[in-house]
Amino acid sequence: MADDIASPQDRGDLKRALGPIHLISLGIGGIIGAGIFVLTGQAAATFAGPGVVFSFAIAGFGCLFAGLCYSEFAGMIPVAGSAYTYTYATLGPLIAWIIGWNLVLEYLAGASTVAVGWSGYFNDFLLHIGLPMPAIFNGAPIALQGFNHFVLTGSIINLPAVILIAFITTVLVIGVTASANFNNAMVAIKLTIVLMVIFACYSYIVPANHVPFVPPSQGAVGHFGWTGVFRATGVLFFSYIGFDAVSVAAQEAKNPQRDIPLGMLGSLLICTALYMAMSYVLTGIANYQTLDVAHPVSKAVEALPGTRWLTQYVNLGAIVGLASVVLVLLLAQSRIFFAMGRDGMIPPTFHVIHPRFRTPYKGSIITGIFCAVLAGFLPLDILGQLVSIGTLAAFAIVCAGVMVLRKRAPEAKRPFRTPLVWVTAPAGIFMCGFMMVFLPLDTWLRLAVWTAIGLAFYFVYSVKHVRQNRYTLN
Ligand code: ALA
Repeated sequence: MADDIASPQDRGDLKRALGPIHLISLGIGGIIGAGIFVLTGQAAATFAGPGVVFSFAIAGFGCLFAGLCYSEFAGMIPVAGSAYTYTYATLGPLIAWIIGWNLVLEYLAGASTVAVGWSGYFNDFLLHIGLPMPAIFNGAPIALQGFNHFVLTGSIINLPAVILIAFITTVLVIGVTASANFNNAMVAIKLTIVLMVIFACYSYIVPANHVPFVPPSQGAVGHFGWTGVFRATGVLFFSYIGFDAVSVAAQEAKNPQRDIPLGMLGSLLICTALYMAMSYVLTGIANYQTLDVAHPVSKAVEALPGTRWLTQYVNLGAIVGLASVVLVLLLAQSRIFFAMGRDGMIPPTFHVIHPRFRTPYKGSIITGIFCAVLAGFLPLDILGQLVSIGTLAAFAIVCAGVMVLRKRAPEAKRPFRTPLVWVTAPAGIFMCGFMMVFLPLDTWLRLAVWTAIGLAFYFVYSVKHVRQNRYTLN
């Protein structure tokens, strides 16, 4: 029934300051980053060759289904918290907690992972200008070997990553308008550079590099051939993480019912087109086997005399691009914590709004500290796929939630209706499950450990404090 969910009381108000351009830009800010600038090379070299173009298309398609389901919810429940709040309203606190806990992987661990990637590009930039960062300050003190064997690296801290996170946290505390404007500027720079790469490199494509477009399978599942394209899809899904952060800002949008779907779907379509074009060009100017490096895009443009001038622009695009991803993911995390604090799932500190800046400043600062500790001191190379699997699980539950609400509250007003919901939502669940299946067993085990820790917290703390909030369907 539409009226069995009533609005929760928020302490103070977040500021409704974001229009459609801000929201599309927020989506693009969160999407384009380490995925295209780092992972594409690895995915092409080890799994799919030029077939990564198809992998990007498939992953983008999967996200589109989830995006359509998110959009229906965002219109109905335009308050902070996104998938966590939607699940709370439809499936109850326990499943909501599991989603919120998975979103911590997506946003907080995702921001830390991208900050470490940023630090790699930044150190490279310092090296190019003759000011190399001492090795003791450019990495985590421990590295992971195998599933659970740690070794010392000789470094003390990943200082650039910590400084970036501190700077971005400060911007986030100062205000959502300042954050969105800062993000707009970064998005303009990175879009310009991505377009420069696509157009400047197009005429240097060597057709032979694209033959065969999907290299034949090497026997094992996931090593080239179509199964390789599918495995690359699971890896490259990381490139799309962040589009859903738009929905997290629903309580700060001027017209959430119209603009949240526009922001999410618009940024997703733009980025899918750019990813396909960029990966086509990249695997066209360089043989895919040469791309398994930390900076595949700059390596490919540097190798050609005609495009060498682009190298430093690509590095700039990556530095700016990855910084905007960290900003959007941290913004999203603080709003998820804001909503969880509202419901009593986590301590109420996370729900306190600054009287002047009108941001959840305490939550933002605590989030920044957690993120900086992860990025500064822990080995994060294993986190990328954990971030992806957690996000995929959250997307699948959102798709399921939309169907539940269609049954439970068929009459509720839906400013945005997921087209063909009984096809779209199951297709979204199938696509997310499909991408999860192709992730390695270790990643599943880590997800199980993460879920167990989350459930322990829920039963020790959250069940005692959770408030029975009820949400209004518009
Ligand atoms: N989509 C973001 C990136 O690729 C997380 O960096």
